Amino acid sequence: MSSEQPYTRRVTLAITGASGVQYGLRLLQCLVEQEAQVLLMVSKAAQVVIATETDLKLPGAPDAMEAFLLEHFAAAPDQIKVYGREQWMAPVASGSGAPSAMVVCPCSTGTLSAIACGASNNLIERAADVALKERRQLLLVPREAPYSEVHLEHMLKLTRMGAVIVPASPGFYQRPKTVEDMVDFIVARLLSQLGFEQALLPRWGESML
Ligand SMILES: Cc1cc2nc3c(=O)[nH]c(=O)nc-3n(C[C@H](O)[C@H](O)[C@H](O)COP(=O)(O)O)c2cc1C
Repeated sequence: MSSEQPYTRRVTLAITGASGVQYGLRLLQCLVEQEAQVLLMVSKAAQVVIATETDLKLPGAPDAMEAFLLEHFAAAPDQIKVYGREQWMAPVASGSGAPSAMVVCPCSTGTLSAIACGASNNLIERAADVALKERRQLLLVPREAPYSEVHLEHMLKLTRMGAVIVPASPGFYQRPKTVEDMVDFIVARLLSQLGFEQALLPRWGESML
């Protein structure tokens, strides 16, 4: 897609510092392949987890990160926009500019808590607050084990506010053979929730085994 064309689908994606950053990176790749524009934020903690869990040499500064990811995922020049933690003039900071859907994948329990309380102390928290106040789609992919009462309370509160909790808990009934298969299980769920076609995983009842 040329950089001149408006994107028919725009999604806000935040990657925070829970284990399982592969879910967020794979979702980013799939959204790019589906020709969506992705407005991306990667928390400082997520950058540490990315360095720990993957071989990706992701630059920390938003501009450098954007250039790196555009090349890494062979995206169109404006298809991935990366915003920093206090970039308050970014489109995601306001209901008038934000996409209609936001995903926090993975979602740390810290960010989960901040969203549940409306803290808005950084751009990820603010963008999620905007999604909630505008009654837009907000998908949260928490990962922790075990969950404490406070984590569960936050998830219940956010569910009641309209957010959808998609825990990073892949099923095994497709008999995954690789870590990538397990990652795709969750990414397929997220793409379906967002209304994208996905071919990562057969639907229940379709050529299961
Ligand atoms: C390697 C690594 C793995 C982590 N795994 C988790 C996790 O699975 N879930 C979680 O909630 N926090 C996890 N943390 C802790 C969070 O990164 C930490 O609470 C951080 O403050 C979250 O910040 P953020 O929400 O701004 O990304 C992990 C941290 C590191 C360095």
